[in-house]
Amino acid sequence: MSMHDDVKEILFTEEQLQERVAQLGAQITRDYADKTEPVVLVSVLRGSYIFMADLSRAIDRPVQIDFMSVSSYGAGTKTSGQVEIKKDLSDPIEGVHVIVVEDILDSGTTLSYLMNVLSARHPASISLCTLLDKPERREKPIYAKYVGFTVPNAFIVGYGLDYAEKYRNLPYIGVLKEEVYAD
Ligand code: IMP
Ligand code: MG
Repeated sequence: MSMHDDVKEILFTEEQLQERVAQLGAQITRDYADKTEPVVLVSVLRGSYIFMADLSRAIDRPVQIDFMSVSSYGAGTKTSGQVEIKKDLSDPIEGVHVIVVEDILDSGTTLSYLMNVLSARHPASISLCTLLDKPERREKPIYAKYVGFTVPNAFIVGYGLDYAEKYRNLPYIGVLKEEVYAD
């Protein structure tokens, strides 16, 4: 029994992901070319870990990396609406250019909270880079300067995204078969 047997449909192949991540990296490289202050990529754990690793290597300038962990979801597919910082950044961000790297922008609850918290620490600038955007589900207004792909309102997994902590290590992004989702 292979993990891949649980997948109903592949939305983005490894090749499509690599091509888009390379474009985002090139765009960020251009946009930050003449910034003199440090640039830090803030990965929102755990869903963005693979995107962070690939995106950081697609950016051709010095960047620092840091990690945060927040939770707004239980084990299932529905948001609880509450956000909690589980792990904060290792370093201060005052005066540096922050790029928040996220896997998916869904209701916007997590990121609107996070962007407010980080903005209050007086970075030189702050922008948001999300691999996926699910605009149909938005409840909080939020602007992402960098978006990899817009996706339909379906629960998706792979390339870092999980269902109940499984399927993060699928190398592509896809939708699971109905019988796999318990709720
Ligand atoms: P939001 O606060 O509703 O925007 O939720 C964002 C977080 O929910 C993401 O960082 C993901 O961890 C998770 N999430 C939202 N949609 C999906 C999905 O389709 N698959 C896997 N995780 C998701
Ligand atoms: Mg997440």
